[in-house]
Amino acid sequence: MSTEQVAGLDIRAVAPIGSVAARLRRVRGQREGRSRAQLNSAAVLTLGVAAIHFAVAPAHLLEYPLYGILFICLGLAQVGLAVAVLVVPSRRLFAIAAAGTGTVIVVYLVSRTLGMPLAPVPWRREEVGFPDVAATLMEAVCWLLFLLLMRRPRRPRTRGRIRLALSTAPGFLLACVLAYAGVGSALTPMPVAYSVAPAIPGQASTSLANLVAPPGPEPVKSFTLTAAVTTIGGHQAWAFNGTVPGPELRVTYGDRVRVTLVNHLPEATSIHWHGIRVPNAEDGVAGVTQDAVRPGGSYVYEFVANDAGTFWYHSHQDTSAQLPRGLLGAIVVEPRAGGVANQRDYSLTIHTLAGSDSIAVNGTANLHLDAVPGEMVRLRLINGATLGGGFDPTPQTPVLVGASYSVVALDGHDLNQPQQLGPERIPLGMGQRADVVFRMPAGDAVRVVGIQGSRPLLPFGPRQSTASVTIGDGPAPAAIEPGSLPRFDLTRYGVTAADPVADAGRYDLTQQILIGAEGPVFRNGGVGGIDTFNGHASPLVPPILVREGDLVRLHIVNPGNIGAHPIHIHGHVFSVLAKNGQPVAGSPVHLDAILVGPRETWDVAFKADNPGIWMLHCHVLGHAGNGMSMTINYAGISTPYTMGTGSGNVPE
Ligand code: C2O
Ligand code: CU
Repeated sequence: MSTEQVAGLDIRAVAPIGSVAARLRRVRGQREGRSRAQLNSAAVLTLGVAAIHFAVAPAHLLEYPLYGILFICLGLAQVGLAVAVLVVPSRRLFAIAAAGTGTVIVVYLVSRTLGMPLAPVPWRREEVGFPDVAATLMEAVCWLLFLLLMRRPRRPRTRGRIRLALSTAPGFLLACVLAYAGVGSALTPMPVAYSVAPAIPGQASTSLANLVAPPGPEPVKSFTLTAAVTTIGGHQAWAFNGTVPGPELRVTYGDRVRVTLVNHLPEATSIHWHGIRVPNAEDGVAGVTQDAVRPGGSYVYEFVANDAGTFWYHSHQDTSAQLPRGLLGAIVVEPRAGGVANQRDYSLTIHTLAGSDSIAVNGTANLHLDAVPGEMVRLRLINGATLGGGFDPTPQTPVLVGASYSVVALDGHDLNQPQQLGPERIPLGMGQRADVVFRMPAGDAVRVVGIQGSRPLLPFGPRQSTASVTIGDGPAPAAIEPGSLPRFDLTRYGVTAADPVADAGRYDLTQQILIGAEGPVFRNGGVGGIDTFNGHASPLVPPILVREGDLVRLHIVNPGNIGAHPIHIHGHVFSVLAKNGQPVAGSPVHLDAILVGPRETWDVAFKADNPGIWMLHCHVLGHAGNGMSMTINYAGISTPYTMGTGSGNVPE
């Protein structure tokens, strides 16, 4: 039996096999003529892009099926292209590949700038995310490679295997790293709807939306804060009523404060009343106590000012992006008539100028204030500065020179019998406040110095920005090197007095809060370092569960060697118990943020007397955004709001 018969084939029918073989030989020859490294790199990068397109497809299928199908088709086409590039390379194929890849890049750019006509919301600019950036980077490299490959092949160049491997390695590595990071982040997207305190079916709970200020006879003080994009000093800023900081709101203890937020920004926003113990539904935290107010919308906040002191307000939606753009301002609650009043009373908001890293006080680097000799002057220092793009945790350390002074309040709470101080640096973490009072001397002006921007990373280039405040008209006091001055120590200042929370000695609950950093890990559709409480990043930090009436003690530990973390509580005030195990030796200290320096431990306590769901987070906004944020949940309270891509609420 002949082989031809066994195969059941007529030998003539397979005659073209010879020409196929010749064709393959020719192809191989062409391939040798081209850079094998370029071919291999283009193929593996195209496969990397396909992997990311497959990874993003499921989420898109759920959200907007057309996109899901598109990404699957694109992924399949790219797998086909990668195979074709290796098996049947030709100039025509490269031309088609370059045109196709170029089109994908252009469509991507359009979707991220103008928006797409066929989209969940037509012509709305889409968010830039890590997976799409990784995919587009690879596509850009592919596109260049296809253009190079389109050139007429040169004379075959024979290369050793090692040289070929070496020249393929960069493309291969790039594809591996970007595809891994892109696929990983695509598979760990920001949650769609995460609730920090969901109502549990079958269990009775009160929605925090009911926790509003009950009606009452208090005098009403009304304000309107309109958030809009403006230009200040040539830079774009997001501002309340056109200024950065926003207008100072002054009310009197016991007033009913009513603030209408009007949002003319291109994004949703909110207002949080930092340090004021408002009812939970008025706390202004997007995704926890309300939905962020959409562009064109408005929202009314109402609370009774039941703490006299220095507070501030700021956006609590996408805080790490919105606050540095300018959405912050001071709110001063003056004591009732008969309380201590000073002849001059100024709030000084320290902040960074939008669009730059320069430091300023009330909008300027050289603020001048009036006071005449003999007058008592109160300066309410507020640290609202986001240094280093929100990641530099260096506290401000303002120093008053030219007069002796006392620190009469911290975080809006009076200190008992404060003594007079010479020049001392007052450490103020982001979010913290200090009120200083002095008598205006005869002759010389008084200055506040030591207000600084980020230390530059390079020895040359822009200098560290500084800001100062000059009070009075006389000659400035002699310049001083703030770095050499002692630091104000709040744990041994003023005179001991009773404090029911600090003196309790027994607590219903003690919780440790361990400050940390880890990573890089995949989180919220990206990859990078995370900042943690007890080893977890928000929203996955287990909440502190309390019951109304509990006395709660927190043991806050910062094992790190660098960086001070201002740990801020909403809706409550901490009584400081001890620092590094040493009990407070002077006046009771009441703070809404504890500045926990390197290798420090702080013991603080609070009374759970304001039911709701409350944030507890580091006020270094970059840290909070990277996960250093959690909640205190009261038993029996739930929130109807969620954070994530579904609602668009992003509290940090
Ligand atoms: Cu001033 Cu949760 O913030
Ligand atoms: Cu921090």
